[in-house]
Amino acid sequence: MAGQLRIITGIAAVVLVAGAAAGFAVAWRPSIAAIAPPRPDAFGPDIVKRGRDLAAIGNCNTCHTVRGGGNYAGGLSVPTPFGTIFSSNITPDAETGIGHWPEAAFVRAMRSGVSRDGHHLYPTFPYDHFTKVSDTDDRALYAFLMTRQPVHASPPANRLSFPLNYRPMIAGWKLLYFRGGDVDSDATRSAEWNRGAYLVDGLAHCGACHTPRNALGAERVNAQFSGGDVDSWHAYALNDTSHAPVRWNADALHAYLRRGWHPDHGTARGPMADVVGNLSDVADSDVRAIAVYMADISGAPAPDGKRPAPPPATDTPQANAADAAIYAAACATCHESHRPLPYGGVNLALSTAIASPDPRNLVNIVLSGIGAVEGERSPIMPGFAASIDDTQMVALLNYLRVRFGKQPVWGDLDKTVRDARAAQTVLLTASHDQRDAPADSLQRGKP
Ligand code: HEC
Ligand code: HEC
Ligand code: HEC
Repeated sequence: MAGQLRIITGIAAVVLVAGAAAGFAVAWRPSIAAIAPPRPDAFGPDIVKRGRDLAAIGNCNTCHTVRGGGNYAGGLSVPTPFGTIFSSNITPDAETGIGHWPEAAFVRAMRSGVSRDGHHLYPTFPYDHFTKVSDTDDRALYAFLMTRQPVHASPPANRLSFPLNYRPMIAGWKLLYFRGGDVDSDATRSAEWNRGAYLVDGLAHCGACHTPRNALGAERVNAQFSGGDVDSWHAYALNDTSHAPVRWNADALHAYLRRGWHPDHGTARGPMADVVGNLSDVADSDVRAIAVYMADISGAPAPDGKRPAPPPATDTPQANAADAAIYAAACATCHESHRPLPYGGVNLALSTAIASPDPRNLVNIVLSGIGAVEGERSPIMPGFAASIDDTQMVALLNYLRVRFGKQPVWGDLDKTVRDARAAQTVLLTASHDQRDAPADSLQRGKP
């Protein structure tokens, strides 16, 4: 708590100074005049369909739809280190949504994080990436949203304390960290690579989760794709510092992003399952382009030139027989049996979760398992939260780390397991489960 307070005091001071420097001129932007909500038949089916695919790539549903609420009606609580921010209603409802917004207001929100009436929006709405979306694509997104069912619903008020609840402060943050503009295309690269760069850096905002953030919540420019945090998950490094036991290539990325699974890498879970659920349904050429571009990133050296330390050959504590027994009884039946899906688990030596320096994803998956997706042949793994206690859990995970990860055990694993149990209780009742997107929408049967 003290740590968090210090961060908040720090951010407040810096933002205050920046805000003062920015002056009142940028602290409030002009309002754009309201219009009568456009009729849905004002938009042709082609542009609406394009907007639908773009909305899927941008994960608009993941943040703007809660379980039991209307599609795009907002109200998802997005926890940040600075408090809780609720997503807006972006249905065309005139009073509580964006029904009165002309296209220009929508384009301005995407390009520069400003609401129709001129107030600044929190960068939880990832406009630091959406700023790179073309006006043509913004127009299609607008057409898609304006043809949704209007839902009358206001999100709860944000739970932020002063001065962060004072929106003109965001102008200071933007001055420091926000750079608007397009993605430059690279003439030496293929059209597919450039399409991938445009999507990854812009609409798909992959870096919003996979890039670490600084104390003021901005992505660290010199650490792009070196691993970030989202909810209680680690979004693995995707550049040269990746800990994936088998290096990612374009084909593997394509399969993983499309179907949520690849035999050399295992499954996408948690927030990544939502991303994959959305990508399973869009034009295959776009998923392919993302994969081609990301394969290049994963081969590129990290900006700071560092590679992950190789696993030390010595220094690994010996696994003991009791720990091996837990594994043999609870896990080996599926993970070493070469059973086919939905029960056959990946060879654990291939799991980034075990090779990663951050054990949280592994703890999450062993506690909660992988749920079946209704009507689909998706992977299934039981959760062990009820059957394995904390002490056994720590012993089991250390055993996996040494045997399959060939690395020394993680520090402070007891605390990680306790935190994950607490977060799991929260997750089951709050943000994650609120989402309407299927929790683990894997293997959706797309080639
Ligand atoms: C990571 C979560 C997240 C994603 C993904 C996301 N949004 Fe949002 N969005 C938010 C939050 C939170 C707000 C509210 C920000 C605030 O109140 O300052 C918001 C606000 C907005 C607003 C402003 C509404 C208003 O009344 O001012 C628009 C428009 C919007 N989002 C559109 C979109 C579109 C279109 C997409 C997909 C391309 C999208 N959002 C994806 C979280 C998200
Ligand atoms: C909302 C946050 C979020 C977004 C946005 C996101 N990811 Fe992820 N990603 C994650 C998390 C969390 C994991 C770890 C999932 C797990 O443990 O199964 C992950 C895992 C991955 C992995 C597996 C890495 C490995 O070594 O196992 C790849 C590849 C990946 N993401 C690529 C992408 C790409 C490409 C995009 C953009 C199209 C993207 N992600 C967008 C959160 C996100
Ligand atoms: C009923 C069969 C079953 C049992 C029992 C089971 N698993 Fe799994 N496990 C799966 C399936 C299916 C997957 C997802 C498919 C994949 O990752 O290839 C999976 C995935 C995993 C992953 C993620 C691999 C990755 O990075 O994608 C880990 C880690 C894991 N299991 C660990 C365990 C541990 C530890 C145990 C014992 C406590 C266990 N599993 C028991 C079936 C099982």
